[in-house]
Amino acid sequence: MQENREHWGNKLGFILAAAGSAVGLGNIWKFPYITGQNGGAAFIIIYLICILVVGLPVLIAEILLGRHSQRSPVSTFRLYAQKHKTLWIAVGWMFFATGLIILAYYNVVAGWSLGYILESLTGKIASLTSASDAAEHFRGLITTPAWILFWQFVFVSAGGLIVYFGVKNGIERIARLLMPLFFIILLFLVVWGISLEGSDKGLRFLLKPDWSTVNFKTVLIALGHAFFTLSVGMGVLLTYGSYLNKHDNIFFSGVMITLLDTVIALLAGLAIFTSVFAMGFDPAEGPGLVFHVLPAVFSSMPQGGLFSLLFFSLLSIAALTSTISILEMLVSTLMDETKFSRHHIVIGISLVIFLLGVPAALSFGEWSHITVLKLNMFDIMDYVSANILLPLGGLLVALFVGWYMTKKGVLNELFQGYGTDLSKQRAGSIWYFLVKFVAPVLIFLVFLSAIGVLR
Ligand code: PFF
Repeated sequence: MQENREHWGNKLGFILAAAGSAVGLGNIWKFPYITGQNGGAAFIIIYLICILVVGLPVLIAEILLGRHSQRSPVSTFRLYAQKHKTLWIAVGWMFFATGLIILAYYNVVAGWSLGYILESLTGKIASLTSASDAAEHFRGLITTPAWILFWQFVFVSAGGLIVYFGVKNGIERIARLLMPLFFIILLFLVVWGISLEGSDKGLRFLLKPDWSTVNFKTVLIALGHAFFTLSVGMGVLLTYGSYLNKHDNIFFSGVMITLLDTVIALLAGLAIFTSVFAMGFDPAEGPGLVFHVLPAVFSSMPQGGLFSLLFFSLLSIAALTSTISILEMLVSTLMDETKFSRHHIVIGISLVIFLLGVPAALSFGEWSHITVLKLNMFDIMDYVSANILLPLGGLLVALFVGWYMTKKGVLNELFQGYGTDLSKQRAGSIWYFLVKFVAPVLIFLVFLSAIGVLR
């Protein structure tokens, strides 16, 4: 164990921080609309299976790797890779690169969300009565460089400030404060949504399985999203796991994080679709749902200004706790690999992330003409990281833990803090089987689909 490595104050702090990483734009912005596009409840059932047989096992494997090594991803691979060491170290740096790319564009959307808090406060959102007005207003904002870059900068700085204070005093403290607040706001929005007249249509839309639209591709979308939403596949949970003590229970924590993430995605879907249907708007809007349709939904409901303020605060909190987890992975890697201090690294890396995000931020206006295969810079960053690098990272973690490390060593690490009675041994064996065989095969299929080999 590295002697001067920081640790979480306690297990709850870790669970809240890791759940904060998992719960993000993926839950509130992405999950509802892909559910709407892919058969509602049928998609949810497939998604839940993917979470259970692939997402959760790989998530536990990542946390286990970090807890075992007490190091960041690059150093972990350097420590344990017996054969092909250089290759595995390169995998660690691939995680680093994935983090840089995701953060760059993630902070842009998070910045929009922050900006929309102000739009709600000034009463602007409440004045947008039709979806086309709201869409036009949104377009106007995201094509104004000063607006996007300002909010992006504010968001990057906020994330940097928290990580600057370290694991216990920065990340854990903010997670303890924001996650309960997040949950209260979400519950409030769900109850409000359900209480609106006509919300039952939204409930039906979300709960009635439509198997006619389900095909192989649906399964792959569900599996791909399972990675993104759980923050698996780029060493972020490995890093958070490296701050765990040996007596903490990884199995239980993994289950709790996954459960929280899943319940929150479902609740976000409930809050959004009940209000969208109650107010008579189109649920099949896709990615624009949150910024195009919701403002119009808000303005047509009683006290919509307050609802809007709460909703965009919710989205910003979710994005912030995810952002700091990725940032911490980057910072931790450089702290382990260089001699620079946390403070210097945070300042340097925040600047790099802001600059890398500029092309993504300008993708909708000034630089919209810069495209590759018809994708703008923002879409390229999203596509490459979420559809290629994350599944690849998840696959490599599963292979490393399942095939590279010894079964005995891996299970010993799992059972520390978990216990070894018979039912736990059985759960451990099932987990090991899923990591070693099931997850790699399924992830491989997602990967083939993402690069277009399978359709
Ligand atoms: N899980 C986050 C979300 O659902 O928005 C996104 C994310 C965070 C992905 C951290 C990957 C990651 F390492």
